[in-house]
Amino acid sequence: MATNRDTPLLGLLFSETGVTADIERSQRHGALLAVKQLNAEGGVEGHPITVLARDPGGDPDRYRLYAEEFIRNCGVQLLVGCYMSHTRKAVMPVVERSDTLLCFPTPYEGFEYSPNIIYGGPAPNQNSAPLAAYLIRNYGERVVFIGSDYIYPRESNHVMRHLYRQHGGKVLEEIYIPLYPTDDDLAHAVERIVRARADVVFSTVVGTGTAELYRAIAHRYGDAARPPIASLTTSEAEVAKMGCTVAEGHVVVAPYFSSIDTPASRAFVRDCLEFFPADVSITAWAEAAYCQTLMLGRAMQAARSWRVQDVQAHIYQQALDAPQGRIWVEPQNNHSHLHSRIAEIDGKGVFQVKWQSPQPIRPDPYVVVHNLDDWSASMQRSAGP
Ligand code: ACM
Repeated sequence: MATNRDTPLLGLLFSETGVTADIERSQRHGALLAVKQLNAEGGVEGHPITVLARDPGGDPDRYRLYAEEFIRNCGVQLLVGCYMSHTRKAVMPVVERSDTLLCFPTPYEGFEYSPNIIYGGPAPNQNSAPLAAYLIRNYGERVVFIGSDYIYPRESNHVMRHLYRQHGGKVLEEIYIPLYPTDDDLAHAVERIVRARADVVFSTVVGTGTAELYRAIAHRYGDAARPPIASLTTSEAEVAKMGCTVAEGHVVVAPYFSSIDTPASRAFVRDCLEFFPADVSITAWAEAAYCQTLMLGRAMQAARSWRVQDVQAHIYQQALDAPQGRIWVEPQNNHSHLHSRIAEIDGKGVFQVKWQSPQPIRPDPYVVVHNLDDWSASMQRSAGP
């Protein structure tokens, strides 16, 4: 077996099965595309990066066990993975005890810092804050929250409630459904949404439940006007599952959409289309996994080493011209300076960008600046590494 002494090792923790398999397969292929490109450049000092991968099946205990196995038995020091926040929380003590590094390419609830995690997805000031402003301005002040029942939706709703209240908005209902909702769970939730007569639904439902919820809402409203569902996570992968008619008119905030028409985005889409299996979607979270893996590789190449301490020191000096635009890691909190875009899904399932931040937004995971009027102030200081 290859050891970390002979060759740079990268452990991938993305589920191939389970509730979030569609999006995590997209992330896994994003990471693998970056490894392929790094190895085509000669890897690190002529050593190709070797990938070890396991399928944790969406189960936090298995994420923890596989992280332990990678680190203890295989000598892995660099990991990319996790989607649901309780899976990241399961891996966090493992990387902290072993002083290794997890790159987490997923939006999350914020209010966390680990010296052993690099956060590559948006924190609430980079997605919830601009989304709340956009929804209130464009749709109205009455909102219903619906989420899967675990930490990310509950904490994200806590922040969103504050953001809505600051502008006189009203949260009419806060509904939670299981990660694997039954038809009854969905039917009850949709009835509560209909009765609330909200202007918009803010959904933090993840995984397979996403397409099921959007479909249940489309079915219940039929030909009547239905409120748009706004989300921080719904991606091209979930839209592929629900179909374009069901997805039409809904709203998503993310750093990247595969529809972005820039040279860097077009090149990324072209590379993904060549490399991804036909049933794997090109998503913001594949882009995040691609970017974080590429940054790890660039840091290894710059350090001429794959020891975790050398790599981490060099990560803070990297700025990446990513498919979304230039991004970098903030050394003060290990989160990433990211772009923010709000899109509405059209009748062909294309994410049409309606708003974008003029530059990357500085990550503020403790939402120090969380007034709707002030959130853009966090963009002012984003000057690069
Ligand atoms: C998530 O649980 N961070 C999507």
